[in-house]
Amino acid sequence: MSRRLLFAAACGLTFFAAAAIAGDDDHREHMKHMDMDHMKMSPKMSDTRQEVDLPSPMRAHMLSHMRGHAEAVAEILAALAKGDGAAAAKIADARLSLASPGAAACKPNAKSGELGEMPAMMASHMPDEMRGLGLTMHEQASKFAQEAAKIGPGGDMRPALAELSQVMQACNACHAAYRLD
Ligand code: HEC
Repeated sequence: MSRRLLFAAACGLTFFAAAAIAGDDDHREHMKHMDMDHMKMSPKMSDTRQEVDLPSPMRAHMLSHMRGHAEAVAEILAALAKGDGAAAAKIADARLSLASPGAAACKPNAKSGELGEMPAMMASHMPDEMRGLGLTMHEQASKFAQEAAKIGPGGDMRPALAELSQVMQACNACHAAYRLD
């Protein structure tokens, strides 16, 4: 028997042994949770997101923008944890707000080419509703920046955090509606 087969056989045995040792009820309970997790994660069974067909270079461009968004949120949270509202506002302004370069493709006049070639190409491949969700996120990030800039030394963070949570909800709204593949 090859090593790989031996290993698979050993894994199988361990699984059955574990199932036998766990009480029947425990086991059933465990399997139920596994099924639920599976349903949540399985894209085929519950995925109602609309597919957006982007040519490959644009796809890479968009995903790299997305990772940039997530990094910006992490840096914003780190600044807020230090009580530095001004720094958090600066990051949001530069990387997520309506004024940030990434917002161009979501703006209504992007398709005309007025805002640059890449934003125009991206805009022509994204459904208008999707760009609307993008615009909402960038607007919300601008609101957050305004609120964060108001935090004085030892000031209340809650209004800014509430705006930031709205930013994340705007990210999630688009993620719930669209996928690239
Ligand atoms: C207008 C729509 C839209 C908005 C707004 C949006 N995203 Fe995305 N994002 C997408 C799509 C579409 C994907 C690809 C998902 C897929 O194909 O499964 C994605 C993927 C990602 C990924 C995965 C990147 C990778 O390399 O695979 C991250 C991280 C991400 N988004 C973060 C964010 C964050 C953080 C925000 C908000 C600050 C945000 N996104 C806002 C549409 C959006």
